[in-house]
Parts: sequence; structure tokens; C-alpha cells
Amino acid sequence: MSEKSIAPTKSLNWQSDHSVNNSIEGNLSGITEENTSTKPANQLGSGLLGWYAICSTESLEDGNLYFFSMYNEPLVLYRDKDSRARCIKDMCPHRGASFQGGVLKEGEIVCPYHGGRFSADGDCTNLDRITCQHIVDSNYNNYAKKIHLYQYPCVEKNGYLYIYYTGRAKTNLQDFEIKSSLDNLDPENYGFKTDEYAYEEVCVDFKCDWARIIENHLDILHIFWIHGDTIPDKDVNKEVITSFNQKIKRDGRHIESKYNYKSKDLGEFITLKFLPPGRVCIYKGTPETARYIQVLDHIPLAKNRARVIVRHYRKFLKNKLLTNLVLFKQLQHRIYYRIFSEDYLVLKTQTFNEQMGYIQKDNVKLLGEDKMIQYYWDWYKSSLNKDRPWELHPTTENTNSIYLDKPMDYPPENTKLVDTNNRSIILNLLLRLLFPIGLIVLVL
Ligand code: FES
Ligand SMILES: [Fe+2]
Repeated sequence: MSEKSIAPTKSLNWQSDHSVNNSIEGNLSGITEENTSTKPANQLGSGLLGWYAICSTESLEDGNLYFFSMYNEPLVLYRDKDSRARCIKDMCPHRGASFQGGVLKEGEIVCPYHGGRFSADGDCTNLDRITCQHIVDSNYNNYAKKIHLYQYPCVEKNGYLYIYYTGRAKTNLQDFEIKSSLDNLDPENYGFKTDEYAYEEVCVDFKCDWARIIENHLDILHIFWIHGDTIPDKDVNKEVITSFNQKIKRDGRHIESKYNYKSKDLGEFITLKFLPPGRVCIYKGTPETARYIQVLDHIPLAKNRARVIVRHYRKFLKNKLLTNLVLFKQLQHRIYYRIFSEDYLVLKTQTFNEQMGYIQKDNVKLLGEDKMIQYYWDWYKSSLNKDRPWELHPTTENTNSIYLDKPMDYPPENTKLVDTNNRSIILNLLLRLLFPIGLIVLVL
């Protein structure tokens, strides 16, 4: 596995002092709980500030600027002259313009407003271009110090691009203190061998609360109901809703819930893992033997704006040629777009109800099977109190909304990609039909 890193070397992996010393065995309507954390039950190793997967490495090509945001803060990713990914605040330190409309020249980002150009380390490399020469000459050091890009640590690993988000971008990457380990997010560290699988990936943007989307992905019951007609699995539909034996575990790294069929012969149905702050893994069966797994990354773009990247790893149909022939990628995209739009109205209404204060302790009831969701909210609320990420770059209704809709590139909010995907399916089917017809015509 390749790993390119421009994160500071200082790494604090708190797991190392973390031993198993506490175990609760109980049975709440078929649920077994196990707490292997020495920290208070609601504290995982990472809070809301930490490592987030932002996009796949292929989606960041040399020469391209990738705009997004985190907790309202506008950011941009690009590759420097050595092709290493950089994550900077989308604000030129000369006079505060966005880099939208800017370009990359030999891996240096150039501001569209006055042409300010910045090296990978963030220094302005053409000060004489953006100010009068005599000012630069007389007060160069003082001036140069102020014109500097603000950055976040950025690492590429297993085909993902991660940033270490703290809400406080710095001019020097070495000044970051990394408090959580990126390894905690790695499915390889939970018994899953990535290179035995092929994968397809889909990106979706939602206008709703980020935390609610994660809850949705930890909710096993809704899959049978709302997605029952869409998921191509005979075990998952409205008719077969069944109850499972559930085993829940949480330690400093993650919360895990295993769902076993009640009949022992059938074994494990699904294992769910929440890897804070933004990753959910869903394994069909045990992580070691799963026929497929989904890795879902959740990115808190802004208030009421969130992005999800879902990667579907599978053991079947790994051959690229065959995958292309049967249009597997396009058909997968079609299913995912549909699944996410099935959730969308629910997520938007829940977000509204939450923000209006309707969803309160006595107004909604988590049931026995929702124990994992309860654990997740425990973590979320304690992290929210501790990290307060939404208070780092707060907006009000008077704030200009220029950045808000910019990153909403993916369905269901924007159906352009769904339409393109559907057109591609039809076109390819026609081409596959035309070929044998043409052949027959030729023979005749
Ligand atoms: S604002 Fe960017 S160069 Fe002036
Ligand atoms: Fe869903």
C-alpha cells in the first residue's frame, strides 16, 4: 500500500497505552454489550476534529483545484510540483480572495485576483508581482511573513486523501500536534484485506445535518424497509424483516455491532463499525470473510451540507473487462443514487425536527436494537461539547452564502450525474445490441 505524507512527523498514538480492562456482559433483548475502553464509555480515541477522508486520490489530478469545505471553512486541495496533495484555506493571504478561477503553474497555486503565486510550503514566490517593488525592498521580511498560505496536514493512503482537520489552519505544518492515529480508520486494521477486493465508488451531497447521515448508516432496520425494493439482496426486503442477536463492542478506536441470525447455522448477517470521526464500515458477514463491504466516509462541509463517499468493495466480478462488459459500475452507481435519494427526505425532515428542538429525549425513543446508535450519539454529544467544531467558523443568516452551494456537486441534490449515468447505461446497452445486429446484417 502506498502512503504519501505531508503531515508532521509528530504522532501521538494514544492507543498504545490502552488495554482491555473492563467488560460488561448484559442482555438487552438479545443484545450483548462489551466495553473494552479504559476511557469513559462515551469517549473514543478521536473527537470531531481529526482525520477525515475527503476524496479518492484519483479525483485529485495534477493541475486541478478541488474545492470543498469543512465545518463552514472553505478549503482547496491540489497537487504541488512533486504531485503531493496539499490542503489550503481557500483564501489568498494578499487580499482575501478565493482561489476559484485561479490556476496551478508548475504545482504553485496562483490567485486570480492579482496573480499572487505560492510555493508548496505556502511562501509567496512573486511578491514583486503583487506590490510595488519599493515596499518589498524596504520592509521585505515583515511583508513576506504575512503573505503565507494556511494549510492542514494531508496524507494519501489506500487510494484515499485524508486531511487532519482542527479548524485552525497553520502556516507551518510542523506546528500541528496530531492527536489521533490515521491507522484507526484503516479497514486493514480490523481484519479486512483490501487487496482481495475490487471496488466502485460513489459520491453524494446532502443538504442536511452531517451527524444524521452517520446515524442513518448505523441503522440496520431501515435498510429492510426504505431500501428493501432497491437493494439487490433476497435477504433484505420488507417481507424478511427479522430480529437478530446483536453483539456490541466499543473500545478506544471504534464502536462495533455484530448482527447474527437467530438460527446458529446461518451465522453472521452484518458487522457494522463506526470509526470516528466520519467513517462507517458495513461488512456482509465477518470482516475476514465478507463477500462485500461498504466503506462510507462522511464529510461535514457546512451547516446543513454534507458529503458522503461510499466505496463498495466486492470479491465477485473483479475482472475489469467483464465489469465493463456488464456495465457493473454504471449499474452500481444507479443503485447507490437511488438508495441515497430514498434516505434524503427522511434526513432532511429529521434535520429540521432536530433543529426546531422537536427531537428531544422524551419525544423519540431509541429501541433495544438501536443501542449502537445510542453509543454513537453519546460519542457525538461529548465530542461536540469538547471540540465545538461548528463554533470555529460560525455563520449567521447575514453571512454571504457564496461558498454554500459551490461544493454540492453530487446527487441527490444535483441530478446531473444521475442523468449522465442513466444515459450511459442506455447508450452502452444500445451499442451492445447493435454489434450483433450489425454482424447478422453483414453475414446476410
Ligand atoms: S488577493 Fe490574491 S493576489 Fe491579491
Ligand atoms: Fe439508508
